[in-house]
Amino acid sequence: MNDARADVPLGHEYDGIQEYDNRLPNWWLFTLYGSIVFSVGYWLFYHTFGIGHTQDEGLAREERIAAEAQLQREMGKEVTEESLLLMTKVPTQLEAGAKLYQQKCAQCHGAQGGGEIGPNLTDDHWLHGNAPLQIYSTVMNGVVDKGMQAWKDQLGPVRVRQVVAHLMSIQGTNVAGKAPQGRPSAEWEAERRAREAAPAAPAGGGGAPGG
Ligand code: HEC
Repeated sequence: MNDARADVPLGHEYDGIQEYDNRLPNWWLFTLYGSIVFSVGYWLFYHTFGIGHTQDEGLAREERIAAEAQLQREMGKEVTEESLLLMTKVPTQLEAGAKLYQQKCAQCHGAQGGGEIGPNLTDDHWLHGNAPLQIYSTVMNGVVDKGMQAWKDQLGPVRVRQVVAHLMSIQGTNVAGKAPQGRPSAEWEAERRAREAAPAAPAGGGGAPGG
């Protein structure tokens, strides 16, 4: 480079090393300015216009796909608490559940779940238990003498799972409506824990009937 300043020492020296006032090499400047331009483009692409998917979005998408795949495998098996929880993570299933709810349940439980003829499904009180499997069983088998029909024949287990997932997703939203009925969730939970902790006593008056 025939820069006039080439190899002109700046006039200080540390441990025998001198500094020259040389021009920065073009390749170096190119990477610096290039990365600045790139960062502006990156910012606009991912954050301002949201065209690209950030890592968080990518992760959420992967999780959704994994949940869907796992759900496909679970569907054929017996219902479990895990499979119901899984269902609440798959938007297509939740949407199906919300739609079923509006068609079959809203007339008695309110469009938002606040209750009308049937109890409020969004508060913290339950007549027949708050656990996903208890809710599933209530919907499947109904409480026929109290005006809640059994849905297992009309909807079948898959659609009952969907509508239960919807109920789980609106739990705790406390929609204004019917006053709480039944016992608080904490009581149901304590009862379940006690039942799980109880030793399967062989003697002593027979085991408590389950749920
Ligand atoms: C004809 C009215 C009616 C319809 C339709 C109806 N329910 Fe109910 N539901 C009731 C009544 C009444 C009860 C309260 C039963 C009782 O007193 O034990 C109830 C109770 C429940 C409970 C138990 C709540 C608790 O506190 O433990 C759940 C869960 C439930 N219904 C879900 C559903 C779902 C899901 C649908 C739609 C697939 C549905 N219901 C449709 C009337 C209805």
